Amino acid sequence: MIDAKMLEALNRQVNAELYSSYLYLSMSAYFESIGLKGFANWMRVQAQEEMMHAIKFYDYIVSRGGKVRLMQIDAPPTEWVSPLKVFEEVYAHEQKVTGLIHSLVDLAISRKDHATNNMLQWFVTEQVEEEASAEEIRQKVSLVSGERGIGVLYMLDKELGLRVFTPPAA
Ligand code: FEO
Repeated sequence: MIDAKMLEALNRQVNAELYSSYLYLSMSAYFESIGLKGFANWMRVQAQEEMMHAIKFYDYIVSRGGKVRLMQIDAPPTEWVSPLKVFEEVYAHEQKVTGLIHSLVDLAISRKDHATNNMLQWFVTEQVEEEASAEEIRQKVSLVSGERGIGVLYMLDKELGLRVFTPPAA
């Protein structure tokens, strides 16, 4: 059985992951609205990944005999001024999520909850990748300016259109 404080923190993380999914789906809708189908595809896959993160926490809570408590999900923004602003926000958001994961690790260690700490290490590694991919695309999008920029944007849109969601191995 999991300790009450740890359980509450894990339930809050389910909500945070669902919000991330909602945020990226909203960014996908924004890209659809400005005709960047590849960017929209990348964000849609990202939204699916976040849903998978939420389910990973959900399943873990259940496996420890805890009760999952779903909470209200905040409404995400719906408009951005440019693709660059979107990726600046993705990068900042992922940094924030990394902070949440690290706080959960701190809590697990302080409660001597080795099983939860062990489960969280998957997320510690995942966040390194999440931040790196957001920053890589942010840098590429920041090259988009002037006449040549349109070509860069077009190429990037094609590249991001190739991303597919790969469910994790069971
Ligand atoms: Fe669930 Fe993008 O971290």
